[in-house]
Amino acid sequence: MGKVAVAFAAAAVVAACSVAAVMVRRRVKSRRKWRTVVEILKELEEGCDTPVGRLRQVVDAMAVEMHAGLASEGGSKLKMLLTFVHELPKGTEKGTYYALHLGGTYFRILRVHLGGERSYLDVQDVERHPIPSHLMNSTSEVLFNFLAFSLERFIEKEGNGSNSQGVKRELAFTFSFPVKHSSISSGVLIKWTKGFEISEMVGKDIAECLQVALNRRGLDMHVAVLVNDTVGVLSLGYYHDPDTVVAVVFGTGSNACYLERTDAIIKSQGLLTTSGSMVVNMEWGNFWSSHLPRTSYDIDLDAESSNPNDMGFEKMISGMYLGDIVRRVILRMSQESDIFGPSSSLLSEPYALRTNSVSAMHEDDTPELQEVARILKDLGVSEVPLKVRKLVVKVCDVVTRRAGRLAAAGIAGILKKIGRDGSGGITSGRSRSEIQMQKRTVVAVEGGLYMNYTMFREYMEEALVEILGEEVSQYVVVKAMEDGSSIGSALLVASLQS
Ligand code: BGC
Repeated sequence: MGKVAVAFAAAAVVAACSVAAVMVRRRVKSRRKWRTVVEILKELEEGCDTPVGRLRQVVDAMAVEMHAGLASEGGSKLKMLLTFVHELPKGTEKGTYYALHLGGTYFRILRVHLGGERSYLDVQDVERHPIPSHLMNSTSEVLFNFLAFSLERFIEKEGNGSNSQGVKRELAFTFSFPVKHSSISSGVLIKWTKGFEISEMVGKDIAECLQVALNRRGLDMHVAVLVNDTVGVLSLGYYHDPDTVVAVVFGTGSNACYLERTDAIIKSQGLLTTSGSMVVNMEWGNFWSSHLPRTSYDIDLDAESSNPNDMGFEKMISGMYLGDIVRRVILRMSQESDIFGPSSSLLSEPYALRTNSVSAMHEDDTPELQEVARILKDLGVSEVPLKVRKLVVKVCDVVTRRAGRLAAAGIAGILKKIGRDGSGGITSGRSRSEIQMQKRTVVAVEGGLYMNYTMFREYMEEALVEILGEEVSQYVVVKAMEDGSSIGSALLVASLQS
């Protein structure tokens, strides 16, 4: 071989070696990055871990806080608010009633007609609209004018048929925010949640604000009750099944109410009701316990929210926040590796990933995870390989599993407080035979998260059985109550008239 040929051969070897070296370096680098995201996932899994032992600690903490909140005003982060609802609809109510529900994402208007028997419940003209986002930080006048205007249009559509007797229309106002009641039809807003920020409304009587707006429009309507959405759900649950004693909402926000004995409401001594009990609105979104598994994503989400240090439980389990926890995890993964491609500014935007998209990704059963690819693309992340899409599904699973399991612990906490968890309650002095006489207990549930996100629902129900045990859980029935928050409130108005 000539000298030139040797030189060429040597150069070719050097070039091949350096290409190989670059490829090896790239592979090592990409493996290192993959390892980084796998570690982020592992850390998330550990941070969100909810073994049954931990759930039981949450159950106990919930029951203890309920006692504290009932014992004194401000005794707990759980407000345990009086609702002045002490009789629930029985099924014999008659007449036509209206309901307006201001929730977290939607408002609804409907009319119910009752024929005096359970089977004669006719729900008519349900209207459901998204709440225009500008209203969430407008003024009290703008918000209530909008609600009155919507009611006016609803009534115009019905013509004279539904109100032929010319009597005033009786309206239930379901208001899904914390209210300090002075009666069943009046109460002042304690604080906003779920991103609403109309500060001048705090401390104002909500029913009065609506009544004034209705009068201003000349509407012949009377705000007969003001209730929390959970109370509406309980009412509809009880109407269908008198074993219903607890109601929970898993929607944009989350909360629970239940029937409590008046003598257990120590902070309101002397409170007398004909039934000896009253529905208590727990406002459990604000529950907190050191046993809750909190991650750095939760801490950042809270700090950057419109209500920091508030509604800690709600921020771990409700529809408004699950999407944002998932987004924060994906954002961190994309910042610490390039597996999501070039950085997307949308991914850095708070609440850019909504919980319904998390549910769609989690439940994507296409072999190539096309739904995951589509949603990531909408977030400005395109062309991610299948293994990365699988990783995203795993993140959704971890966050939703924790939410479902903590939600179950919350429910079990209430059951414990009222002695329906098989243990005899936390201040039990009850005998074993009494404990064994477990009563059938129905928990009525409503809210988009529960109704539409199958995996959330399954994780919740599975964890409830795990906490209570097979035997006791046979007596606990979880029942979905579609539109319960609005229909049930209209039923309450009816029960007051009969
Ligand atoms: C509110 C509760 C409401 C729950 C569910 C929470 O943010 O504080 O009053 O019941 O959301 O809508």
